[in-house]
Amino acid sequence: MAATRLVSTILCLLLLFSSTTAKKIPSRRREPCKQMVLYFHDIIYNGKNAKNATSAIVGAPAWGNKTILAGQNHFGNIVVFDDPITLDNNLHSNPVGRAQGFYLYDRKDYFTAWLGFSFFFNSTNWHRGTLTFAGADPLNKTRDISVIGGTGDFFMARGIATLMTDAVEGEVYFRLQVDIKLYECW
Ligand SMILES: *[C@@H]1O[C@H](CO)[C@@H](O)[C@H](O)[C@H]1NC(C)=O
Ligand SMILES: *[C@@H]1O[C@H](CO)[C@@H](O)[C@H](O)[C@H]1NC(C)=O
Ligand SMILES: *[C@@H]1O[C@H](CO)[C@@H](O)[C@H](O)[C@H]1NC(C)=O
Ligand SMILES: *[C@@H]1O[C@H](CO)[C@@H](O)[C@H](O)[C@H]1NC(C)=O
Repeated sequence: MAATRLVSTILCLLLLFSSTTAKKIPSRRREPCKQMVLYFHDIIYNGKNAKNATSAIVGAPAWGNKTILAGQNHFGNIVVFDDPITLDNNLHSNPVGRAQGFYLYDRKDYFTAWLGFSFFFNSTNWHRGTLTFAGADPLNKTRDISVIGGTGDFFMARGIATLMTDAVEGEVYFRLQVDIKLYECW
């Protein structure tokens, strides 16, 4: 009898405790605290454009090479890039930062990539700091990747970035539109 009373008291206490701790968790923010649209421009080395290429194939499968992306949906290629970021879709606009990182092609039977990169901003009249992105890119019309952190003006930021391929010129140039929605701002 005493034992059951003890057990029920403990249960009551546990319930109380869990309900009070649950109340302390802030409700999740559903609206972005910051939103911006940026573009970045990738000029892939193709054997002839070493001077203006902003990305290079650094890894290729045994059946490929580092000049031309391999067949079978480029499976096994890794590309490192240092691309200009602009506020509009013009490659020749004044860049506000650089997109730096890599993408790798990770599916043989379907065209997909995986992205890991940072936006590095060092602009006197825009922003300073970084935003870091990572995620699977199924190369659909639009696809979401994670904004996993930030520094400087974007200290501790987190959110979602929607990517859209805005232009493609052969295997040499593509432009991505990045619609960034931050749900955590400091
Ligand atoms: C890169 O440079 C080459 C040679 O000057 C030029 O033909 C090409 O259009 C340039 N590519 C881009 C995307 O500006
Ligand atoms: C690289 O591979 C492509 C196609 O896979 C081929 O056309 C090209 O000749 C190769 N280049 C070199 C330097 O081996
Ligand atoms: C950032 O910009 C400042 C001023 O334009 C410059 O002095 C500095 O070297 C830049 N830093 C980097 C890491 O590019
Ligand atoms: C991507 O596009 C393909 C083909 O259009 C579609 O079947 C698939 O559901 C899409 N995936 C996502 C994650 O939207």
